[in-house]
Amino acid sequence: MIKSVSGAGSLKGTLRLPPDKSISQRAAIFSLLYEGESRIGNYSQAQDPQSTLRCVQQLGAKVKEDSGILIVEGKSRAGIVEPKQDLDCGNSGTAMRLLSGVLVGAGISAKLIGDASLCGRTMTRIIEPLEAMGAHILARNLAYAPLFINRIDSLRPMDFELPVPSAQLKSCILLAGLFGEEKTRVIEKLPSRDHTERLLDLDQKKEKGEKIISASLADEIPEQSYTIPGDFSAAAFWLVAGVIQEDAEILIENVGLNPTRNALLDILGDMGADITIENERMEGAEPVGNIIVKGSDLKAIQIAPEIIPNCIDELPILSVAMLFAEGTSTISGAGELRHKETDRIMAISKMLKAVGANFEEQKDGLIIHGDPEFTFQSAEFDSFHDHRIAMASAVLSLKGKEDSMIKDAESAAVSYPAFWEDLHQLTG
Ligand code: S3P
Repeated sequence: MIKSVSGAGSLKGTLRLPPDKSISQRAAIFSLLYEGESRIGNYSQAQDPQSTLRCVQQLGAKVKEDSGILIVEGKSRAGIVEPKQDLDCGNSGTAMRLLSGVLVGAGISAKLIGDASLCGRTMTRIIEPLEAMGAHILARNLAYAPLFINRIDSLRPMDFELPVPSAQLKSCILLAGLFGEEKTRVIEKLPSRDHTERLLDLDQKKEKGEKIISASLADEIPEQSYTIPGDFSAAAFWLVAGVIQEDAEILIENVGLNPTRNALLDILGDMGADITIENERMEGAEPVGNIIVKGSDLKAIQIAPEIIPNCIDELPILSVAMLFAEGTSTISGAGELRHKETDRIMAISKMLKAVGANFEEQKDGLIIHGDPEFTFQSAEFDSFHDHRIAMASAVLSLKGKEDSMIKDAESAAVSYPAFWEDLHQLTG
């Protein structure tokens, strides 16, 4: 599907976001591990969380809905069943990596499949440590899905220092560890999103600047009854749309404000953005609040490698903000972007090139020479079937003088099914 987006005069309105994708997927998987009923409010209808929910049902969870609340009858760790069919993770790296940990831990045989993008993403980072725990995994070309996970009788717990700051890898190993008699410990140098630790209430301690998280069979799985907050990564598109558009004023309600996710707030704040947070509160184990964003004058910023894990999914849209900031901005130490739904450094470069921006692509980041007066006539964007590239291109299109085109725009539904309606509402 090709979407046409016109330049916008101003953006005004109030938005409610799609439910958080990462938390929704975890809520489904952790409910399977819980023995009894979890009641999940505001479960995401987006494609990735729906793929995860189907997999969890194939592993034995019974799911029904009552007045918008998802009721998941979990199986407990001992009761997970072997799936009769392949587990289709769709586009979701989180589903494939977290479920692999569960399957290895539970000693279940299964085949995990995914779409073309997911089958092109390396799974070596989970295969190697899971094999060190005793797993037998067969992967296409030793690295890619489909993955065949073979039943094992006993799991070897381990101490694992994360070689990359990845929450999917961390969660995969901790989930396998939850099935071991002895403790598995994951050592994290740079903080990545901590939803798994929070929602499973795992033991955590800080030692010499590192975080050590442990998991074993002795850990009780908590009931997963809470309301999923709005997705900060979805809010990011409106935060940038708001700051780069003169006269904009957008209220975004019920946004997840987990500090391991929302570095973009500080980054935009340092760039000079007019952003206010109201009504901060806790929703279960996660902080939430409302955000008001207004059109602002931005200045350039340098993004250091240490904070990349806390804004990794927001870097495509942050590059759009950088284009309209005074001066030269840099993103460095972001090589992980090359392993997302598509190579996002390449995809951002193509997006910026389409509007004639002044920038340089680096191996692990970008240098963007911004200009608050930057303008372009119109552009044709390729989303590379990547939801975040499609949505970032749409926000950039709002700054064009004429209509721009976005290819494969339907990919937004991977995380944000109502994105195009919300865009229409704001520009309306
Ligand atoms: C996610 C972790 C991140 C993020 C992805 C969701 C998660 O991936 O990019 O969109 O839910 O754990 P990595 O763990 O590969 O960094």
